[in-house]
Amino acid sequence: MIELDGALVTAYAPGPRGARRGAEAVVTLLGPVTCTLAERRVAVVGANGSGKSTFARLLNGLTLPSAGTVRVGGLDTARDGAAVRRRVGFLFTDPDAQVVMPTPVEDVALSLRRTGVPARQRDARAREWLARVGLADRADLPVRALSGGQRQLLALTAVLATEPEVLVCDEPTTLLDLRWRAVVDALLADLPQQVVQVTHDLDAAARADRVLVVDGGRVVHDGQPAAALAAYRALMAAPPAPDPAGPAASPAEVVTSRRGRPRQRTTSPGQDDLA
Ligand SMILES: Nc1ncnc2c1ncn2[C@@H]1O[C@H](COP(=O)(O)OP(=O)(O)OP(=O)(O)O)[C@@H](O)[C@H]1O
Ligand SMILES: [Mg+2]
Repeated sequence: MIELDGALVTAYAPGPRGARRGAEAVVTLLGPVTCTLAERRVAVVGANGSGKSTFARLLNGLTLPSAGTVRVGGLDTARDGAAVRRRVGFLFTDPDAQVVMPTPVEDVALSLRRTGVPARQRDARAREWLARVGLADRADLPVRALSGGQRQLLALTAVLATEPEVLVCDEPTTLLDLRWRAVVDALLADLPQQVVQVTHDLDAAARADRVLVVDGGRVVHDGQPAAALAAYRALMAAPPAPDPAGPAASPAEVVTSRRGRPRQRTTSPGQDDLA
């Protein structure tokens, strides 16, 4: 069970060029969001820049809330970050952000090391994991020799090998062709874990138990897929709202000057992924 209570993410946006020091604005990237996610399959949709990745990253503590709390299985992402990341696997859009070892078998073995599998068992167990997803014959190839679809499958396998209780996926199929998208979709569908998936694939979102629509850093609709996706389509058909942060800046809402300095706890991408 994932619980967000008034979760707010803010960041500093640089002031205009040449402006004095301290002219930065604090912008709200997301929230405040209050919701409890208990469904097996949750989809998150929204326009580019609406705050979906920020939402996803909150769920495993890659981004910490500036205010409010995020809990997974009762663990606070701010206080128990390492424990949360052991429970919540995170799959990025681009497998190259995730796969770090030279070969698939070594990459999955690294995940097994993180979960405490003894060294002498890791190679065989990694090969078993790769066999489950049809990558057994690619186990010893250089990772760069794999296709993009195979690399995404490897990234997913390496996350699953940590045996997370929840899997958060940030656009896991955006870079894939239709065939590989179907492969990854089928694997995600069969998982026993809770899966929260950010996606631009509205067919995938329609198969979820619950859909959150994010717009301008807020959850503007939350409910059954049919109603949520109808709301999302209507939103996308309407002209965009004027951007309070300026045409070249983020669509996030400017909330205060730096003088009212809140905690800035946004971490950089991949900083402690799967630590
Ligand atoms: N550290 C930061 N400082 C300032 N603005 C940020 C920061 N991180 C994200 N943003 C802005 O917050 C907004 C939301 O970003 P986010 O990545 O969550 O959007 P998204 O919905 O995932 O978009 P996409 O569909 O393009 O992946 C964007 O406008 C982004 O530029
Ligand atoms: Mg994103």
